[in-house]
Amino acid sequence: MAIEDFARAIPKIELHLHLEGSVRPSTFVALAQKNGLSLPAFDDVMELYRYDNLIDFLKIYDLVCRAVRRPDDFHRIAYEALSSAAAGGGRYVEFFFSPHAHAEFLSYPEMLDGILAGMRDAETDHGVVSRLIPAHAKPLGPEKGVAFVEMVAEHRRDAVIGIGTDYDELPDGPAVFRAMYERARALGLHVTTHAGEVGPAAFVREAVEVLKVERVDHGYHVVDDPALVEECRAAGVFFTCCPSTTLYTTEYTDLSAPDHAIRRMIDAGLKVTLNTDDPPMFGTDLGAEFAMAAKALALTPAELKTCTINAIDASWLDEGTKRTWR
Ligand code: ADE
Ligand code: ZN
Repeated sequence: MAIEDFARAIPKIELHLHLEGSVRPSTFVALAQKNGLSLPAFDDVMELYRYDNLIDFLKIYDLVCRAVRRPDDFHRIAYEALSSAAAGGGRYVEFFFSPHAHAEFLSYPEMLDGILAGMRDAETDHGVVSRLIPAHAKPLGPEKGVAFVEMVAEHRRDAVIGIGTDYDELPDGPAVFRAMYERARALGLHVTTHAGEVGPAAFVREAVEVLKVERVDHGYHVVDDPALVEECRAAGVFFTCCPSTTLYTTEYTDLSAPDHAIRRMIDAGLKVTLNTDDPPMFGTDLGAEFAMAAKALALTPAELKTCTINAIDASWLDEGTKRTWR
């Protein structure tokens, strides 16, 4: 069997997916129209989903967020995101969403009501189990980060299992969020952060050593510091890598190159998992992403299997469930 077919066929766990980055273009336009949000002119809606760096991507991501304003909008986009993941072989999904980007339109508990209803319906209809990770936008800063964690804890629901940070990584390293992460860990929330997507290896080190994250989202620039690679390998740090994203937001624009960061991370024995990040916004879906990545990164069946086992281990499933999944 060709590696692409094997990659497409295997059951998958997705640990790095953004709800708003999963909004289908047709849904984006429909929600914008319904909610009175004017969009830039386009002939084909896919023209809106074009960028070649993280900052330009985030501008469109924010526009998509602004189209999502009511609990039933959240229900729709969560259901669609998880249905798409299930269609690509996704069995279990932990996904981010960006509460601050909708706060002008509805309360945090109202957002949760819509998303959790979409998660339940997707599980009933497609058998895909999911959990939610509210994410704090780094540019909002550390003080708001602590308030964000208090908000998440105050409105805790069973399916909300941890917190993350995303958006632009620069200029400050993750260490400025030390208090936020200490508080999240003290409250029993799982913790992860985007780091090393465009930021330097030192940011990956801060994420691991200062924030004590359970996994690093992206993390590619770890490869620039061989000592850190070795430390992460020895400590079994998990990385949620997103092959297609690297083509748009990073300097690693050739997945087939032997020095692509993800290939080097796998070669170095780091615990890499494969994920989609913002599938329609990066022109992919879970099945296509695994097939494309397996071929371009020249993954062997054993490497692909290792990525999947890594995803089980890196997930925030309980230990009993992890044992049965392995
Ligand atoms: N939000 C959604 N996708 C992101 C990414 N790749 N990096 C930072 N923030 C994001
Ligand atoms: Zn991301």
